[in-house]
Amino acid sequence: MAVIERINELESEALAAVSGAGSTGDLESVRVRYLGRSAELTEIKKGIGTLPVDERKQVGGAANRVSRSLEAAIGSRSQDLAGGEREKRLREEAVDVTLPGVPYPKGSLHPTLRIIDDVVDFFVGLGYRIAEGPEVETDYYNFTALNIPPEHPARTMQDTFFLDDGLVLRTHTSPVQIRTMLSQEPPVYVVCPGRTYRRDSDPTHTPMFNQIEGLAVDHGLSLAHLKGTLAAMARHTFGEGAVTRLRPSYFQFTEPSVEMDVSCFVCGGADQNCKVCKGAGWLEMGGAGMVDPAVLSEVGYDPEEFTGFAFGFGPDRMAMVKYGVPDLRLFFEGDLRFLRQF
Ligand code: DAH
Repeated sequence: MAVIERINELESEALAAVSGAGSTGDLESVRVRYLGRSAELTEIKKGIGTLPVDERKQVGGAANRVSRSLEAAIGSRSQDLAGGEREKRLREEAVDVTLPGVPYPKGSLHPTLRIIDDVVDFFVGLGYRIAEGPEVETDYYNFTALNIPPEHPARTMQDTFFLDDGLVLRTHTSPVQIRTMLSQEPPVYVVCPGRTYRRDSDPTHTPMFNQIEGLAVDHGLSLAHLKGTLAAMARHTFGEGAVTRLRPSYFQFTEPSVEMDVSCFVCGGADQNCKVCKGAGWLEMGGAGMVDPAVLSEVGYDPEEFTGFAFGFGPDRMAMVKYGVPDLRLFFEGDLRFLRQF
């Protein structure tokens, strides 16, 4: 009977296709082609009802047998293929955990930030709190409240960037002293790092630079406390051998006022040709002094009851000195060849 022959032909054709399938995807196409809804075998099964009664049983039996044998063949081929594919994937994705790792590029801290971190760490260790203020400041906080009244000639010394509406780019971090004192009662112990601005540009001045302000107000603080505190800070930042000295100076917001020098930590004053101190033996660190009673009164503190000391340092300058950098502007150019050296 022609139909039975055709069914047998389809079987051998399909079995060959099953063993020839190279992937589970291929195998699925073979299944659709021979057992799917419009496969020839399926059509034959659908047509069984139209056959003469005596042929129906034979054709139906043959068709069902072939369907089952194909399903079985596809099932076992499918397992083989899946197993092989898993093996292959495992082989390809194997990771050799003994290989050395890929090094990640690593940045480093900017020299100024190192100094700031160092100095701030020191003061936090003494129990000081960190305080910050805005870089766009009012004339009042930047000058007037610090005992620098309008029209005072000291204002011109600051090379101020004036903005509209009585605003300035703060020329120092000292206004943070005022903001702090206005927001709390004594005792005050704060350290205030931040960016400051002046119209100035040469190898040792940049229009933007950093300062670290400090302020302590309490019962019975004296110049001796200021001196001891700054000396300990210098030893912490520049090494145990660092010696400090105070020179008389003048600031509107302190009385008396001093400037602090630290002994050259490279030559200690012994080398006339020292590159860092140029033979002077001392390096200027910044200004300091006892808070002027006028400033204490301005913020509502009683100058008869409280005294205070304050200081302001330039961490950029300190970093230049500590790392032997000749030009301050290098710190702000973002040149990787420079920054990678730290
Ligand atoms: N604000 C001063 C300046 O930028 C530095 C300074 C001097 C700060 C004495 C102080 C201080 O707190 O007591 O020139």
